Parts: sequence; C-alpha cells; structure tokens
Amino acid sequence: IRFLLIQHVCCVSGVCRYPLGMSGGQIQDEDISASSQWSESTAARYGRLDFEEGDGAWCPEITVEPDSLKEFLQIDLRSLHFITLVGTQGRHAGGIGNEFAQMYKIKYSRDGSRWISWRNRQGKQVIEGNRNAYDIVLKDLEPPIIARFVRFMPVTDHSMNVCMRVELYGCEWLDGLVSYNAPAGEQMNLPSHPVYVNDTVYDGAVIHSMTEGLGQLTDGVCGLDDFTQSHVYNVWPGYDYVGWSNESFPSGFVEIMFEFDRTRNFTTMKVHCNNMFSQHVKAFRQVVCYFRSESDWEASPLSFSPVVDEKNPSARFVTVNLANHMASAIKCQFYFADAWMLFSEITFQSDTAMYNTTLAPPKTGLTPNTPDDPTHKVDDSNTRILIGCLVAIIFILVAIIVIILWRQVWQKMLEKASRRMLDDELTASLSIQSETFAYNHNQSSTTSEQESNSTYERIFPLGPDYQEPSRLICKLPEFAQSSEEPDGVPHYAEADIVNLQGVTGSNTYAIPAVTMDLLSGKDVVVEEFPRKLLTFKEKLGEGQFGEVHLCEAEGMQEFMNKEFLFDIPEDQPVLVAVKMLRSDANKNARNDFLKEIKIMSRLKDPNIIRLLAVCIYSDPLCMITEYMENGDLNQFLSRHEPEGQLALLSNAPTVSFSNLCHMAAQIASGMKYLSSLNFVHRDLATRNCLVGKNYTIKIADFGMSRNLYSGDYYRIQGRAVLPIRWMSWESILLGKFTTASDVWAFGVTLWEILNFCKEQPYSQLTDEQVIENTGEFFRDQKRQIYLPQPVLCPDSLYKIMLSCWRRNTKERPSFQEIHRALLD
Ligand SMILES: *[C@@H]1O[C@H](CO)[C@@H](O)[C@H](O)[C@H]1NC(C)=O
Ligand SMILES: *[C@@H]1O[C@H](CO)[C@@H](O)[C@H](O)[C@H]1NC(C)=O
Ligand SMILES: *[C@@H]1O[C@H](CO)[C@@H](O)[C@H](O)[C@H]1NC(C)=O
Repeated sequence: IRFLLIQHVCCVSGVCRYPLGMSGGQIQDEDISASSQWSESTAARYGRLDFEEGDGAWCPEITVEPDSLKEFLQIDLRSLHFITLVGTQGRHAGGIGNEFAQMYKIKYSRDGSRWISWRNRQGKQVIEGNRNAYDIVLKDLEPPIIARFVRFMPVTDHSMNVCMRVELYGCEWLDGLVSYNAPAGEQMNLPSHPVYVNDTVYDGAVIHSMTEGLGQLTDGVCGLDDFTQSHVYNVWPGYDYVGWSNESFPSGFVEIMFEFDRTRNFTTMKVHCNNMFSQHVKAFRQVVCYFRSESDWEASPLSFSPVVDEKNPSARFVTVNLANHMASAIKCQFYFADAWMLFSEITFQSDTAMYNTTLAPPKTGLTPNTPDDPTHKVDDSNTRILIGCLVAIIFILVAIIVIILWRQVWQKMLEKASRRMLDDELTASLSIQSETFAYNHNQSSTTSEQESNSTYERIFPLGPDYQEPSRLICKLPEFAQSSEEPDGVPHYAEADIVNLQGVTGSNTYAIPAVTMDLLSGKDVVVEEFPRKLLTFKEKLGEGQFGEVHLCEAEGMQEFMNKEFLFDIPEDQPVLVAVKMLRSDANKNARNDFLKEIKIMSRLKDPNIIRLLAVCIYSDPLCMITEYMENGDLNQFLSRHEPEGQLALLSNAPTVSFSNLCHMAAQIASGMKYLSSLNFVHRDLATRNCLVGKNYTIKIADFGMSRNLYSGDYYRIQGRAVLPIRWMSWESILLGKFTTASDVWAFGVTLWEILNFCKEQPYSQLTDEQVIENTGEFFRDQKRQIYLPQPVLCPDSLYKIMLSCWRRNTKERPSFQEIHRALLD
C-alpha cells in the first residue's frame, strides 16, 4: 500500500487529466479570445476541440511573417489550474476544411500580465501538432503548467494557413501557490560524477536566487530514493531534486518564500525530501515558518522538528502542521540535518484544498503530533484514486470505440460523396492527373504522393495542381451560392499555398486532357533542327529544369512555314529562343518537356509564339521557338515614354496611345485563341509578351525564369514561385487556375501597359500585404485595394480592368468580349 501511495502522490499528473471545458462547454465563449480571426465564423469561440460550429475552428488572419508567432488562441480558465495535457485538432468542417497546425508553442500566465513560454524538460518550446485536419493529437505537458491563462501559438512557416481546435486537460490548482522564491539549486560533486540539483523547469527569474516562479518543486513529480539516478525524462542525475549544501548557508538554513493567490486557511505543508544519508543527504532537522496575511508578517513563527531518520534511506513526504494559520504568503526556514538537503516537491493544503487529500500521509517516524488523524484520509484517497482510474479507463475505452465507429461511418460517407462528385464534374480533373504535364514537376508530385496517406486524400487522389473537389465546390462562390449563409459570411478559404504549383522555366500552358484528345488527331510535324546551326547569343533565363537561351539560327527559313516568312530576309540568321532541358533532368521532367513540345506544336495563332523546331535526337533536349527582335513588352515599354511634352523634352522614343491599345488587343486576341482551346496560361504579364516589328505582340511564357523578373514572383520556402501580383484571389487562395484567372492577369497586364511598365503592380505593398489583400478580395468587405487608374488610362479602359478583377469569376468578361471592347 505504501508503494502504491507513493506512486500516486508523486504522480499528480497521472491523476489530474480531466478536460477543462473547451469541448464540454464549461469554458465560456467570452473566456476564449484570439489575436485575430479570419472571419466571424472562425472566431476564437469556435476553437473548441471536437466542435463543428461556425466554420469549424478558430482561424487567424492569413499570417504575414513566418514564425512571427503573433497569432494565438487564448483561454482564460478563471482560476489557477494544473494542466498536464493538451489536445489539438485542425479544421475539418465536414470535409471542407483542411487547415491545421503542424507545430505550435504554448505560453501561459498566472496573473494575465507576465507570460511565460512553455518548454519541455529538454528545453524545447515547439510542440508537434496535427498531421491532418480531423485527428485529435494529445500531448503530455512535461513539465505540467500551473496557470490561469493559456495561449496556443501556431508556428507557421508560411506554407499553409492554420486553424485550431484545442482542449486543456488537468485539474484545479488547489494549492493556490503562485510562486516560490528560493536560493538557486546547486551542483553536488560526488566522487564518480557531478549531480545537478538545480531547478531546471523554474519559470521565474534565476539570478542568484529564484524569484517569482514555479518549477521542479511543484511539477507533480517526486524524486527517487536514490537521487543519483535520473528519472524517466532522459536527463541528468539529480534532475528531480532541488538541493543546497550547508557550506553555502552559514546561517544553517535555507529560506523559501511561498506566495499564494489569496489569503488561505492553511492546514498542512508537505515537503518531499530525499534521505539518502549515505551520501550526506537528509531531510531537514527543523523548519520555522512565518505567516503573512494582508501585509504584515505575524510576529510569532511556527516551528516544527521532525525526527531525524538515520535508518530508512527512502525519500519521503514530511508533513508540517500549519495549524490553521491564515496567510497569503508563507516564509519557511529549513535547517540542515546533514551536509545536503534535497527537495523534490512541496505542496500546501488549505481550506478548499480537495485533491491534495489524495496526497500521501506522512511516514511513520516523521509524523509530527498533529491533531488531525491522517489514517481516515488515506483510505478515502485510495478509494478515490481507484474510482478515478476506473472511470478514466472506461472513458478511454468508450472513446476508442466511438472513434472507430465514427471513422468507419465517415469513410463510407466520404466515399459515397466522392464517387458522386467524381462522376459528374470531376472526370476532367482526374484525367488531367493521368495526363500530367505542365506544372507537375517531379519534386512536388513525389512529395504529394508521400503525404497522401490520409483517408481524405486517398479518396480524392487529385494532384497538387488541383484542390480536393469537395473543398472547391463548397468554397467557390459560384458553387456555393445556394448554400452560402444569408448574411454572406464567407467560408474560410484555405490557402495551402504550397499546393499551388508555380510556373517553372520549362513549362508552358496547362491544358485539360479533353483538349489534348481533340488535338491529338491532327498530325503536327515538328522537325529536328541541326544543333550545330544554333549560335548562342545570350542567356534569357533559367528555371528549375533548364535554361532559355537567345540564339541565332542559320537556315531556319526551311523550317518555317510560309505563313511565317513575312519579313525575314533569305539567308540571314533568325533570332530564336531555345529552351533547353538540363541533361541531368529526371524522367518526369523529360516527359513533361516532350509533352510540352506536343502541345506547343499545335498552337497556331499570330499572337502566340510558335514552336519552330526541336532537337530531341540527342541531349540536351531543346525547343526552338520564335523570338522577336524588340524583346519583351515589359522592357520595351520601360524604354519608351507616352507621347507628349515630357517625351519631347527628354527626346525619348514614344509609343502612341493607339499603339498601346493595338498591343493590348493583340494580347487579348492571343488569349482568346488559347481560351478557345481551354488552355490556361497561368502567367500572363507583360514580361511574357514579346514585341516584334510594328508593335506586333506574341505571347510567350519564359518570363519567370529570368533573374530580371525574380521580384515579380513570390517564393514559398524555395519550393514554388508564384506571380502573386498578377494572380486572381482564387488562384492564390484555392489554387484554382482557369481562363477567368487568366482574365484577371490580363487586367493587371493592361494596367502595366498603360503605366508603361514603370511600376510593379501594388509596388507599395509587400508580398505579404499582397496576399493579405487577396484575402480582402475574397472577403469582399470593401477593404480590398484595387490597382489605381493609370494617368493615361481613360475611364473606359479602367472599367475593363475593374471588370477583370471581379470577385465572381462568372462576372468577369471573356477574352472575346475584352478583345471586342479593345478594338472599339
Ligand atoms: C541546471 O544544470 C544543468 C546541468 O549543468 C544545466 O544544463 C542547466 O542549464 C541548469 N539549469 C539552470 C536553470 O540553471
Ligand atoms: C480555519 O479552518 C478551521 C477548520 O475548518 C476553522 O476551525 C478555523 O476557524 C478557520 N480559521 C479562520 C481564521 O477562519
Ligand atoms: C556541514 O555538514 C557537515 C555534516 O554534518 C558538517 O561536518 C559541516 O561542519 C557542516 N558545515 C558547515 C559550514 O556547517
């Protein structure tokens, strides 16, 4: 029985594991707050574990700086609690949500003003969180926290948005102890090895002494009989104890001051001491305690001398009767009985203290002659512990059964739903997967395969280019119109940006497989070009899998169709762009490259760059496309000025307004052609348009691979690059690229043209602010910032731009309409 008791005494954290009321509702909504919220429907009060109210979780604003840790979900427990366990969960929202915190930190406070970062026993702050949006992940807090306020702080690395649902487990901290101040623990030099008996988990200040904190003496873990053995936490010998040597205390005692949350009526204090006398460690010889209630220290202290035990070397609780003193602070002087004194726990029992009655009674021989008889409490506590354990076990079993059943049902439902959806709308997306090309470079596809081991993804095996259908359908306003809440509160948009495939240097257009089939009937011949006839002139850019060179090609005329031979003189080298796949590129990249050749060879439009020839008989694989002598539109316009006084003065070359419109109309025309084939460009911008003679324009796609324009792309952890300033909100937030998002980019391109490319879109905003602004476009609460009307731009043109940036993709004009409008 004694053994059992000691186990339990020292394992407060094993007993004290009750949910504190996030899921049960005992914690009130007003006690849950947060640094920010994405929308009303993802406010802090929805951050309750296992709740599906609102949009299913607490979600902060889209985070701006990685690791900034400015976002938190805060819970006020209204009184001090001993917290031993935390649970977290992501936002699942019946299958719509997929945001969760992969990592988080915890901060806590006892008074609401001093916040302490939780660290585990090894000093690590970051806690591994969730791996999917639905599973609950429980983490033991070692050491446990004693606090009233707790903050969950998701650690974000910018790669995805986080939402959280949480629960705290523990029990009320009936000791009422807010802090203890003591001399710092010391180092004991045993002949064999040093033993560190400092207070490693102390959460206050430690300079010469420890102030304003709690630590090892209140962590609910008692030290072993042999203090030189380290405890279970894989730390150093002596870890569980805080100890002092009589050499450092000429007065012969160690003074520890205890502060409490309020004035209490104290019955006992229990001090867990080591008594390994063979190593000159003994429990204290005498303790003298002073009491302070209100502001004054009581004049007469209480003194108590336990019997010094030189027979039993086991560690023990020494109980000190505090004789119903009223106090809000207690100061005790513990006198050395030997060279060393080692404590591992100190607990207090006062008027309301309930669970401390489960603590062990003092051992024989050390019991002071106290008026209250402890035997009665022992039985009582035993029964309670037993009942507590049984109840806990039953609860766990029931929970496991429920979870198993629930997951089976849920899986069935998902399967059914997915089958239905796949049947009607998603066949196209799926077949794209099998036909993968364009933006699926190898790296990302392998990682996504590795990660797709959850039920959810198994059912929706769509590639990284595409969001899971259920999410798309429920989120996109055009799909969700019927189900949207009457107050127009938007659903939280997930922005798993990593899933957006960035364009890379060796990729062109995304194209649905349907179109591929349509095209594949025609036999398009692209001829092999003798590599030696290419003369390198300049590197235009570089991508993940290759480079783009500007070259001169001899005898290219033979390879060009008659329709191309407008004004290229015979026997003169032709400027071409040569896209080259690195010879060390992997198989997937090669396949993509060959597919891209197939697609490019079928694109025939006066405003789209033509594929002229290829070199695929030997490595490196090359694609030879047209190049236009005036370079790209961005550089071209930056060199020019609008017609007018200023240009006259500076003698700069000019472009007339009608030529600007002519160029814009050609871009619209080229895009009209692409959209008629259901091609999605994904990176329309002036840097991707080439300028020839007489302001002819051809749309290309190698802009991003050039250093010159690296500032136009947003890099996510080096994994993907995205032209966010040209991207529609749904492309950024949902990873959805369509002709309508190309239309959005066209609006930005038009804006660039009318600004003569003198300014980057949203140049006054940082990348992070641009992403925030995207959120505003989504929320549509009139806080989004539109690109301003350029000086040169007539109202009619600005109206076209604004129509390209409409929130609802269906309300945006088609390229046909834009083209027509620009011709007028
Ligand atoms: C306690 O001692 C260990 C071992 O020397 C040391 O690593 C740790 O930082 C010390 N902790 C404090 C709070 O001084
Ligand atoms: C403290 O509690 C004891 C036992 O409940 C009681 O007899 C005593 O009157 C209390 N003291 C004060 C000052 O309230
Ligand atoms: C410390 O304790 C040891 C053993 O009881 C004793 O021999 C020694 O004199 C003490 N030192 C001081 C400074 O009190």
